[in-house]
Amino acid sequence: MDNLKVLFTRDEIDARETEVAKKLDEDYKGKEVVVVCILNGAVFFAVDVMKKMKTELVFDTLQVSSYVGTESTGNVILKKDIEADVKGKEVLILEDIIDTGKTLKFVKNHLMSKGPNSVKICTFVDKKARREENIESDYNCFTIDNKFVVGYGFDIDGVGRNIPYIGYIEQ
Ligand code: IMP
Ligand code: MG
Repeated sequence: MDNLKVLFTRDEIDARETEVAKKLDEDYKGKEVVVVCILNGAVFFAVDVMKKMKTELVFDTLQVSSYVGTESTGNVILKKDIEADVKGKEVLILEDIIDTGKTLKFVKNHLMSKGPNSVKICTFVDKKARREENIESDYNCFTIDNKFVVGYGFDIDGVGRNIPYIGYIEQ
């Protein structure tokens, strides 16, 4: 990917993740937490944030599909559900990006229907200006404008996830 520019370096990402993990530890202290990582993109971010957290937690994953190329189709389908029982527990969704909000709206509603005590959202990147749904993340690392990002879990048509920083494609 030769037209990729650096948006956030590995060090900037690490520092911000440390701050967010600290806040999560403060807020979830003594609570029964089930962390739900949304596959595939959020894996990179989720692993790093969870390793920085001291709170005891159950880890689970969920997979949805909605994206083709650089434009959201808006159709969200559940491909893999969680296995943990979240009834009466605190659910914390870890997601790579909140863009139109369609994915997280679907995921949040789906998890709320399982009867947890709370469902909160922690995102790595927020594209606030692109929101179409009435949904916000409770914790977020970076707010960006309308750039298509690649690396650190973000892909373009399946590739680029393992690039160790957040880059963007100059259009
Ligand atoms: P939303 O449903 O429109 O909020 O889109 C969320 C999903 O779109 C994310 O889980 C990503 O997979 C994908 N997405 C949105 N923007 C980007 C981007 O800049 N790079 C890579 N994937 C993106
Ligand atoms: Mg995703």
